[in-house]
Amino acid sequence: MNRIIRPMEDRDLVACIAFWRDTDGLVLREESDCPEALGRFLQRNHGLSFVAEEEGVIVGAVLCGHDGRRAYLYHLAVRPDHRRTRCATALIDTVWLVLKAEGITRCHAYVRSRNLTAMQFWDRCEAELRRDIDVLSFCLDKSETAAQAGPFITQLRSQGVGSWWMPY
Ligand SMILES: CC(C)(COP(=O)(O)OP(=O)(O)OC[C@H]1O[C@@H](n2cnc3c(N)ncnc32)[C@H](O)[C@@H]1OP(=O)(O)O)[C@@H](O)C(=O)NCCC(=O)NCCS
Repeated sequence: MNRIIRPMEDRDLVACIAFWRDTDGLVLREESDCPEALGRFLQRNHGLSFVAEEEGVIVGAVLCGHDGRRAYLYHLAVRPDHRRTRCATALIDTVWLVLKAEGITRCHAYVRSRNLTAMQFWDRCEAELRRDIDVLSFCLDKSETAAQAGPFITQLRSQGVGSWWMPY
């Protein structure tokens, strides 16, 4: 195995997107996961996203960005035939190094509910599963995902969440 971890570049995006599309457990969105949008992401977060490459082929990838306070990880994935070889670990170790060098000490990862493999991986990384936070998404282009939005307060109350509950 001759694996290298290197920063993701614009020229990698088409291959990365195809690879992520083929990967179970990830959610890709047309508007934010096209080459143009991801190119902007790489430019704004220069040197924080990485690929694992073997013999010129991308076998793993992760996107990372930060806002000066917290970092966020997206689309961590390893090709099925390269899993359990510490490829994701190598990607994440590299991300931690560059984040620390930028003075960022906390990073959040979004994991699709019931993605057991991802949870097993993050557990091994000693991640803290936050049960005190709900993630709220706002769609600024109302035509896009209006159908997915819903009266979640009603749903929460029916689950026994009291009127003191408020998003933060
Ligand atoms: C999650 C994923 C990135 C892990 O990649 P990986 O390169 O196989 O992970 P590593 O080899 O670095 O695993 C490190 C440790 O995590 C744990 N782990 C990883 N995959 C596991 C699995 N399928 N079952 C149990 N434990 C697992 C193990 O403790 C492992 O160490 P070990 O092999 O010595 O037991 C990979 O399975 C993947 O691409 N999944 C599909 C995409 C996805 O769900 N991404 C997560 C988005 S947050």
